[in-house]
Amino acid sequence: MKVSLIAAVARNGVIGIDNRLPWHLPEDLAYFKQTTLGCPVLMGRKTYESINRPLPGRLNVVLTQQADWAPAPAKDGSPRAVTRPPQALPAGGETAIAVASTLDEALNWLAPFDQVFLIGGSNLYTQAMEQGWVDTLLLTEIHHDFPGDAHFPFWPKAQFRETQRIHNPPAGERPWAFDFVTYEKTTAPR
Ligand SMILES: NC(=O)c1ccc[n+]([C@@H]2O[C@H](COP(=O)([O-])OP(=O)(O)OC[C@H]3O[C@@H](n4cnc5c(N)ncnc54)[C@H](OP(=O)(O)O)[C@@H]3O)[C@@H](O)[C@H]2O)c1
Repeated sequence: MKVSLIAAVARNGVIGIDNRLPWHLPEDLAYFKQTTLGCPVLMGRKTYESINRPLPGRLNVVLTQQADWAPAPAKDGSPRAVTRPPQALPAGGETAIAVASTLDEALNWLAPFDQVFLIGGSNLYTQAMEQGWVDTLLLTEIHHDFPGDAHFPFWPKAQFRETQRIHNPPAGERPWAFDFVTYEKTTAPR
């Protein structure tokens, strides 16, 4: 299982405000969708609630310590089905929600998949970096400061090598540039 962390990060480290993204960046949403489609995505409960629906074409694994947590119903009022261990996990490309109560449980559960994406938020990124789970970082580096209340954690850059950087200059109504950057871990694999 390759574990990739994907995040959009402002120059000042901000990733969120009031449980939403601080910017409007459609190019990043398109990149995120194209990159993660068909693979399981793992997220903290607050990030799930900020999206408030399962991302289509992906197995959405939500971390929460609340044993009775349930996702909000669909727009038509129908409840959303949830899988919990030890039930069998849906396929990685299925639009489905699975709930895990610890990070180890979630990652052990996802071990059979070739590729897993950690999609936030700050709390999950911090734990995954500290525990050495991350093989690849896919960072959208935004060259602008934003006010916010959720931040990207410190990460040991010396243990990673930049393997790709796609620069996007300011365009139209957007006065700031951003880069899609890939960092691969260079130290011994897990
Ligand atoms: N810029 C980006 O790329 C990006 C991406 C994603 C999110 N965000 C932003 O990040 C912010 C949300 O981040 P956040 O740090 O506040 O919350 P979060 O990481 O999304 O969710 C935190 C919650 O996840 C659960 N959780 C986390 N670790 C767990 C563990 N090891 N075991 C069990 N449950 C665990 C807990 O839920 P319970 O309290 O239910 O136990 C915890 O309160 C929002 O502003 C969002 O918009 C930004």
